[in-house]
Amino acid sequence: MTAAPHIDAGHPADDELLAQFEQTIAHNDRIEPRDWMPERYRRTLVRQVAQHAHSEIIGMQPEGSWITRAPSLRRKAILLAKVQDEAGHGLYLYSACETLGVSRAELTDLLLTGRQKYSSIFNYPTLTYADVGTIGWLVDGAAICNQVPLCRTSYGPYGRAMIRICKEESFHQRQGYELLMTMMRGTDEQRAMVQESVDRFWWPALMMFGPPDDQSPNTAQSMAWGIKRDTNDDLRQKMVDMTVPQAEALGVTLPDPALQWNEERGHYDFSQPDWDEFADVIGGNGPCNVQRIAHRRRAHDDGAWVREAATAFAEREEEHA
Ligand SMILES: [Fe+2]
Ligand SMILES: [Fe+2]
Repeated sequence: MTAAPHIDAGHPADDELLAQFEQTIAHNDRIEPRDWMPERYRRTLVRQVAQHAHSEIIGMQPEGSWITRAPSLRRKAILLAKVQDEAGHGLYLYSACETLGVSRAELTDLLLTGRQKYSSIFNYPTLTYADVGTIGWLVDGAAICNQVPLCRTSYGPYGRAMIRICKEESFHQRQGYELLMTMMRGTDEQRAMVQESVDRFWWPALMMFGPPDDQSPNTAQSMAWGIKRDTNDDLRQKMVDMTVPQAEALGVTLPDPALQWNEERGHYDFSQPDWDEFADVIGGNGPCNVQRIAHRRRAHDDGAWVREAATAFAEREEEHA
């Protein structure tokens, strides 16, 4: 390693590094862990990638609680695989985040002490098995809208993790849609169960894209850095346009009377979710916030002996070597 070249007064090398960084971004090339990056870029990425990783891990809970109550062996196998995928997504993303100079232990601590957030959607309960289908269809569907553009994000490890994650998310969405389609072909009670579930999840799913653009102060900088590729409102519109025909094919009604095709715009018009409710859930007062973190903390404590054993094993292997 050579000495840092920017210790001279005036920091001429800093300007050079910044110019190089900006050129990489302008060319749509990737920034890699070995590259110099502005501290604010690094901090923004840590926040975004960590929040994403936490969402994958906390997101295992609402559906995980249905594994023991799946209605058939086939549904159980599908749900197990899906929930396991989410653990894998968390792992890729924590690893990507570690390349930015924070440890997994620090990130876990930030989550458990409420200093880093996870997606608001996972603070809603799952009340029926139809929710497993609705989450696959709408929640994983929203995740796909959000994440496909992130495959081209400017930070290499994050973008590469997203490529694999997106492939698995599309399986998640399809299994959810297939589950709902099966229920819609069933009894009146099953159809009513699907409709009730869609009524509950529609608005929280639209909230997943974050606040409206005029209330999202970080969007402009994140887009300039290529961390984010589309605005919240653009992604929300994309989700609505994609979902309306799917709802029609399914035979469910989306709970928004203002929803209609706008010929002029070439998009569906739709109502805004309740942003006060969103602020409440983000602020820790959603229906399941306390439960989710308590469960995560318990799992973390229960796993302490595994971490200790793995560390002891690694140390002994090193000694032998
Ligand atoms: Fe995922
Ligand atoms: Fe998923």
